[in-house]
Amino acid sequence: MAAKPYYITTPIYYPSGNPHIGHCYTTVACDSIARYRRMQGYDVMFLTGTDEHGLKIEQKAAEKGVTPKEYVDEIVKTFKSLWSYMNISYDRYIRTTDDYHVETVQKIFKELYDKGYIYKGKYQGKYCTPCESFWTESQLVDGKCPECGRPVIEAEEEAYFFKMSPFADRITHLLTETDYLQPKTRATELVNNFIKPGLEDLCVSRTSFTWGIPVTFDPKHVVYVWVDALSNYISALGFYNDAYHDYDRYWPADVHMVAKDIMRFHAIIWPAILMALDLPLPKHLAVHGWITFNGQKMSKSLGNVVDPFVLGERYGADAIRYHILREMALGSDSSFSNEVLITRINSDLANGLGNLVSRTVAMVDKYFNGTLPENREAGEFDDDLIATATALREKVDGFMDQTQLNHALAEIFKVVSRANKYIDETAPWVLAKDESKKARLATVLYNLLDTIRIISTLLSAFMPTTMPKVWEQIGAGVAERTYENAASFGVLPKNVTVHKGEILFPRIDVEKEIEELNAIIKNNEPQQPAEEEAAPVAELAPEITIDDFAKVDLRIAKVVACEKVKKSKKLLKLQLDDGMGGRQVVSGIAQWYKPEDLIGKKIILVANLKPAKLCGVESNGMICAADAPDGSASVIFPDQSLPCGAKIR
Ligand code: MSP
Repeated sequence: MAAKPYYITTPIYYPSGNPHIGHCYTTVACDSIARYRRMQGYDVMFLTGTDEHGLKIEQKAAEKGVTPKEYVDEIVKTFKSLWSYMNISYDRYIRTTDDYHVETVQKIFKELYDKGYIYKGKYQGKYCTPCESFWTESQLVDGKCPECGRPVIEAEEEAYFFKMSPFADRITHLLTETDYLQPKTRATELVNNFIKPGLEDLCVSRTSFTWGIPVTFDPKHVVYVWVDALSNYISALGFYNDAYHDYDRYWPADVHMVAKDIMRFHAIIWPAILMALDLPLPKHLAVHGWITFNGQKMSKSLGNVVDPFVLGERYGADAIRYHILREMALGSDSSFSNEVLITRINSDLANGLGNLVSRTVAMVDKYFNGTLPENREAGEFDDDLIATATALREKVDGFMDQTQLNHALAEIFKVVSRANKYIDETAPWVLAKDESKKARLATVLYNLLDTIRIISTLLSAFMPTTMPKVWEQIGAGVAERTYENAASFGVLPKNVTVHKGEILFPRIDVEKEIEELNAIIKNNEPQQPAEEEAAPVAELAPEITIDDFAKVDLRIAKVVACEKVKKSKKLLKLQLDDGMGGRQVVSGIAQWYKPEDLIGKKIILVANLKPAKLCGVESNGMICAADAPDGSASVIFPDQSLPCGAKIR
C-alpha cells in the first residue's frame, strides 16, 4: 500500500537578522514531528523557508548599501547552515524571491481580482510601519499598534482590498467548531478581537515601496507581504507553477506550526484566501507561545539573544533540541534560562539517559565480555519494566497527534527513570558475584538493552544525532530499531553484542559554565544593536521648534507598584513615584514586560499628557519606550541614580 502523505510547515522566517533560539523552537518541533511521521511510515513533506520581501528588508539592505537580494542571500545562508547544524530534515526550502513562487502569487492575486474578491480602493488609516499592517481606530491599543505597541502613522494610498466579510461565518465555525486550532482555547480571543467587531476588508497591495511581488495588471503596486508569504504553503507544492507537481499529493497541509505572534494571519487571513480560491483548508494550525528571556520575548535588540551556534558548540545540537522541546508547552510562553538548560542536560541527559546506556553497556562488557549468553531466568520487577516499555509507544503517539512534544518527551523519560530504578532493584553487581545467577544476570541486562532500544527508537525523532550512537552501543541493527518494533519486547537477538562507546552527554560543571555563558552574552551586547539589528528607521516626524519640544514635560519616575489591567492582555497599570506626590499610568506593554520586571525601576515619564481612560482605567501620562526591530516595545531605563521628578531636556 502506498504511504500516506503528511505535510508539515514552519513559518517562513524574515531574513532581517540572524536566527536565534526562538526560530529554532518551531523548526526543531516541526523536524521532530516530521521524523516521527516518517518513522511511522508516512510519506512526509516538511517545508521551511524565508519570507524575503517587504519594507523592512528594503530598509535594512539600504542601510548596508547592498541590494535587497544581496542582503537576504547572506542571511539565508546563515539560516540554512543553522538548520544543517541542528540536523533539520526539511524536504523543501522555499524563498519568496524564487521565480516559481512569484508566479504563483501573481496568479493568485489575479484570480482573486477576477473573482471579485479583490477590488481597487483608497486606504486611509493607521499604519504600523514595522508590522506592515493597517489598523482600524478601534483595533489600536492606547492609540498604538495592537501587535507591537508602537506608534502608528496616518497613511493614505491607492490600494487593492480583499473582501473578508463573506467568509466570517465559515471562519468562526472553523475556529470554534472544528479542531483546526491547537490549542482551541485561543479561538475566543480571535473571534472576539477580529471577527465579532466585523471582519474588515484587508488592504493587500502597497505602493510605498518596491521590494515585493508586482501586481501583474497594475505594476506600481506590490502584493502585501502576508498574501505573498502565506501563499508559500501551496506555491512550494507547485500550485500555479511548474517547478513542482506535489499539490495534489500533499495539500491540504496536516499542520502549519507558528507562534502566537502570527496566529491571526494563519487563523483568519489564510483560511479566507483559501476559501476565496475554493481550495481545501489546512487540517491543523498549531500555535505555541514565545520563548522569553528574563520575561521578555527574545530579541537581538534586547541583547539577550541566545545564539544557537554558541550553545550547540558547547553542548551538542541534540541537547539544545531536547531542552527547548521539553521546556516549551503548546500554548504557553516559556522562559529560556542557561541555568535550566544546563541543569536539565545534567539531570535528564547525563545522569538519566546517558548513565542508563553507559552503565548497561559497561556491565554487559564487564560480566559477559560484550556478548550476552542465551540462557534466561525471569525474576521480580521484569514484568513491570517490560509492560512500561511496551506501553510507551502508544502514549508517545497520542501526544504527537496533539503536537504536545514536551509531554511525549516526559513519557519517554519516565521509562528512562523506570529502567534506572530497575538497575537498583535487581542489583546486577550482586548477581555477578554468584556463578549460579548468570542466567538471571543476562536476563536483567537484556531487559535493559531492549528497553533502551525502545527508548532510543522513539527518541530518534527528537535527538537524531545521538540515537544512532546509542544503537551502535547496544548493538541494535536496522531491522530492530523500527517504529513497528518499538511496541514489542524481546526484539534484540538473545546473544546481542554491545560496543562500549563515547560518553553520550558529558556532565557539565554548572557554575563554571554559567559564568562563561554570561560572559559571552555580555560581550555580545554592545555590538548587536549597532551592527546587526539597528531599529528599522521610522519616518522622521515634521520639524518642530525648541518651544514645541519644551511643551513636552519629561520626568524621571520610579515604578513603585505594577499589575496587569484585568480584561486586557496588553495593558499594565503602574503606580509611579514622580517626585510630585505620585500618579497612575497605564501602558500597553504587558506583552513584553511582567510587573516584576518593572517594579523598582526608574523610567522616563511624559508627565503633562492629558489624562485618558484605557479599558476604563485612568492613565495620567505615558512611559517612554523604543521600537525594537522584532516588533516589541523596549522601555527606556535611564541612569537609575537620577532622582524621581528630575526633568529631562
Ligand atoms: N515572515 C513571517 C511569517 C510568515 S509565515 C507565512 C514571520 N517571520 S519571523 O521571522 O518573525 O518568524 C516568526 C516565527 O518565528 C514565530 O511565529 C515563531 O514560529 C518563531 N519565533 C521567533 N521568535 C520566537 C520566540 N522568541 N519564541 C518562539 N518562537 C519564535 O513572522
